[in-house]
Amino acid sequence: MSKVVVVGSINMDLVAVAPRFPAPGETISGERFVTVPGGKGANQAVAASRLGASVSMVGKVGRDGFGDQLLAVLQHEGVDTRHVGRADGASGVALITVSGGENSIVVVPGANHALLPADIAAAEAELASADVILTQLEIPLATVAALLDIAARHRVPVILNPAPAQPLPAELLAQCALITPNEHELATVLGRPGEGMDSLLPLLPGKVVMTHGKNGAWHVRADGSLYHQPGFAVQAVDSTGAGDTFNGALAAFLPQGLEVAMRHAAAAGALAVTRLGAQAGMPQRSELQAFMAS
Ligand code: RIB
Ligand code: NA
Repeated sequence: MSKVVVVGSINMDLVAVAPRFPAPGETISGERFVTVPGGKGANQAVAASRLGASVSMVGKVGRDGFGDQLLAVLQHEGVDTRHVGRADGASGVALITVSGGENSIVVVPGANHALLPADIAAAEAELASADVILTQLEIPLATVAALLDIAARHRVPVILNPAPAQPLPAELLAQCALITPNEHELATVLGRPGEGMDSLLPLLPGKVVMTHGKNGAWHVRADGSLYHQPGFAVQAVDSTGAGDTFNGALAAFLPQGLEVAMRHAAAAGALAVTRLGAQAGMPQRSELQAFMAS
């Protein structure tokens, strides 16, 4: 299996399950509450590790109780945390409402925003040893840019999951081996809000794997032809972390070829939505294989 280094966020998720989403100014009664590990970076690291990849993480947690717990969870999941530092102040936190299998999220970055270009430079040897580097946008953009420079120097491919989305400079996109937005994120990244996949996908041939919810994922090959990986049907409980599971699996299986990796990623992402919490539904390798064979 591949060696994956994940550079990204680590959050504690405070999750309320509610009969519907509250309107502004409204208070409603929830049905259930859980405190579970999350953060796009940590979720992707755990997903790849459960699938058998050798994973190490570069990130920051706070000097608080959540920070202790988040580090312990990553270690329990077999993720190498030697490059996860501690920052003064609070760990990243996400306030999540889940209703009807969908979610709405407020992320407060905390320590994640203390992950700086100097931390990337300090992890250079670790990054150089990776088969694939995986990153997202819950850390400062300057840190992502520094990462792309170091990765280019060592010719290590970087998968950027551009979430939460923001418009990105063309030079930064050019340095990514792959980007993995959903349709809405793709429009935002390219600075073309409101446009759909038909006009957007051809703009970055060979570079985009676009997730499409229960419809699976799309890729425009370098020659411009379109490849579709259909979705796997499941009973949705909580979609939180589905995209992260897709990304972790994609990185873990990328050495077997992109289309094989997309198939495993779509299946793993589907399994992730069957349980409450970002990481609870992420499959082990054997579970994924059994699901794909059924
Ligand atoms: O992608 C899901 C994640 O986004 C959650 O775990 C939450 O922490 C937010 O970062
Ligand atoms: Na889930």
